[in-house]
Amino acid sequence: MLKLIAIVGTNSQRSTNRQLLQYMQKHFADKAEIELVEIKDIPVFNKPADKHVPELVSEIAEKIDAADGVIIGTPEYDHSIPAVLMSALAWLSYGIYPLLNKPVMITGASYGTLGSSRAQLQLRQILNSPELKANVMPGSEFLLSHSLQAFDKEGSLIDLDSIEKLDAIFDDFRLFVKITQKLRSAQALLHKEAENFDWENL
Ligand SMILES: Cc1cc2nc3c(=O)[nH]c(=O)nc-3n(C[C@H](O)[C@H](O)[C@H](O)COP(=O)(O)O)c2cc1C
Repeated sequence: MLKLIAIVGTNSQRSTNRQLLQYMQKHFADKAEIELVEIKDIPVFNKPADKHVPELVSEIAEKIDAADGVIIGTPEYDHSIPAVLMSALAWLSYGIYPLLNKPVMITGASYGTLGSSRAQLQLRQILNSPELKANVMPGSEFLLSHSLQAFDKEGSLIDLDSIEKLDAIFDDFRLFVKITQKLRSAQALLHKEAENFDWENL
């Protein structure tokens, strides 16, 4: 069975992005084992000189390493990804490279009509940086707009078109994970490049 880690990109207790990932965990239970990972207790990134990452970050990195792929659910605050998600990604690229070449699917839920599109675009750019270098699925984005009204009391998505779209994108992602597993020729080289990359000696 496909093993996926779903990063809840927020520290808000009441999050429709978390709801969406919980829905995906249940809805796709016969297609993948999805484990939700919280980043809300990770300390704010402070670039320690010894490059020691917090225990919680190491644990998350190990989970990502062991998974076939990663889903990142991002809210949008002021046209950006939440600070807590940026901070977690900074830790996850500080002397460790768990996301390198990892297949990533981005989801986003927002209260308005644009469904976190600007945050998603920004997240794609961030994930392309030298020490993250994830393989983000191209093309398809899952945007859930009007997310406060999107779920029923059981936490299921209400809108059938949204479900159909999520199903199709998730099927593509499962295929993308398989294809990405075959794209390994440059893996060792990219890893070395990331290891040797040093912002202080460019
Ligand atoms: C300070 C602040 C800024 C926000 N900025 C945006 C924004 O730029 N775009 C947007 O769609 N929603 C914005 N929102 C509304 C929701 O927080 C946002 O839609 C979020 O993605 C909802 O996700 P959540 O339910 O997981 O918290 C903002 C809210 C606050 C409090």
